[in-house]
Amino acid sequence: MKKPIRIGALISGTGSNLDAIVGACDAGKINGRVVFAGADNPGAKGLEKAKKADIPTFVVDYADIIRQFGAGTEQENQEKLPPDFDLDDIFCKQSIAPFSDTNRVHTFLKTRGIAEAALLEKMAPYPFDLLVLAGFMRNLTPYFIDRVNTDPACPKIMNIHPALLPAFPGTDGYGDTFRYGCRIGGCTVHFVDYGEDSGPIIGQSGFPIADDDIIESVRKKGLEREWALYPECIRLFAENRLKTVQMTHTLKNGKIVQRTIVKVVKPS
Ligand code: GAR
Repeated sequence: MKKPIRIGALISGTGSNLDAIVGACDAGKINGRVVFAGADNPGAKGLEKAKKADIPTFVVDYADIIRQFGAGTEQENQEKLPPDFDLDDIFCKQSIAPFSDTNRVHTFLKTRGIAEAALLEKMAPYPFDLLVLAGFMRNLTPYFIDRVNTDPACPKIMNIHPALLPAFPGTDGYGDTFRYGCRIGGCTVHFVDYGEDSGPIIGQSGFPIADDDIIESVRKKGLEREWALYPECIRLFAENRLKTVQMTHTLKNGKIVQRTIVKVVKPS
């Protein structure tokens, strides 16, 4: 029997996925345990559930950090940045900031860098093998990702997204799927890379959308899929069965396409 994995979780809201993960660990479906639950806002309801399950919790209040940065002088803000924050490096790597204005991108990356340094500090007492984003509504920058993924061949941040990626990345996957008029909705679990919801896909689960569905029923169907899919993907990680592979394809026009994908290997 392999050693149980230590799972860290970041949430923003209700925490129903966190519940499903904790339940799967308790039931022995995942050989692991949740070692902390952190949130980006003090109102995240999932924090209470985590406390009840005796899971250590913490909050890094992103909104407050962003507000204070907006009110601070350039000198004050510079002093808040972590000493190892390399704006040029992070700027070159990232593809998450949705603006074309460089100053806005810089502000975005700096505020997130301050928040992420605080997150890393809060997480430090709880070593973990896997970090799961369970309804965490903040994009992570390369500053944070590089400090967690110390071996690029072994990504260890997972996210669940409420759409069949690469369709409908962003903050309202089920809403976007429904409004588009899709006949099939779904959810995706993927490793986190430097883009928004763009990392290697681990698992997906789809469901039909009927003519009488409304946005609420689509969300309900989707969440039920999530509660099964996320624990299943974490189980595969815990069994060391997820391998990332760099694929290269040459298209008919000679263009070369490269993509890192996930292969699920047989149990050893
Ligand atoms: C879930 O639907 C999850 O897929 C989504 O937030 C919800 C959180 O629910 N995540 C995202 O949109 C991430 N971009 P929960 O707090 O009850 O687990």
